[in-house]
Amino acid sequence: MNANTSVLIIMGSIRAGRVCLTIANWIAGLGRKFTDLGYEIIDLADWPLPMDDEPAIPATGVYANAHTRAWSEKILGAGGVIILSPQYNWGYPAALKNAIDHLYREWRDKPSAIITYGGHGGSKCAEQLKQVAAGIKLQLVPTAPALVLPEKVIREGATLEPDRDFSEHVASVKIALLELRATIT
Ligand SMILES: Cc1cc2nc3c(=O)[nH]c(=O)nc-3n(C[C@H](O)[C@H](O)[C@H](O)COP(=O)(O)O)c2cc1C
Repeated sequence: MNANTSVLIIMGSIRAGRVCLTIANWIAGLGRKFTDLGYEIIDLADWPLPMDDEPAIPATGVYANAHTRAWSEKILGAGGVIILSPQYNWGYPAALKNAIDHLYREWRDKPSAIITYGGHGGSKCAEQLKQVAAGIKLQLVPTAPALVLPEKVIREGATLEPDRDFSEHVASVKIALLELRATIT
């Protein structure tokens, strides 16, 4: 597999004023630098998946709605996924859980990495995501980078500059990306 194989970077935040897209672009850049894979950013704001709108449980794989079938095909076609999530009140955003919960079998054995961010790196939300990942049987790489946002970005809306602000995290992100690469065959 090579650059034709795409790793989806699923953005956990759909919040107005989010920093998620800046971080997703930074990770995609590192992915292209350190691996031979392609990286596609998935903005859940572009994937309207109304809450709990499927009459059958996702484990049946029977989807009544075209948007769920499209989401299913997107995940099935991915070589791997990176779940990129902010920490919200020690958890992860509802939009991300909703996107996960629209599907079930599509996640099974999918090579995956979890990358979180927050004032302390989002370790609490990473714990929750790892538990969910076990439930849906993602093939999760061991390294889960935890990116520490500067106080000024969180409190004052200062511009995040990942090359500067996350310089100390490049090593862990690189390891996670290489682990993910090794998992994708
Ligand atoms: C609803 C909400 C809850 C938050 N809770 C936490 C938290 O528990 N821990 C933390 O470190 N930061 C917390 N933050 C700060 C976020 O980490 C920070 O705002 C970050 O930029 C959110 O990601 P986003 O901008 O991509 O949405 C919270 C932010 C929001 C909006």
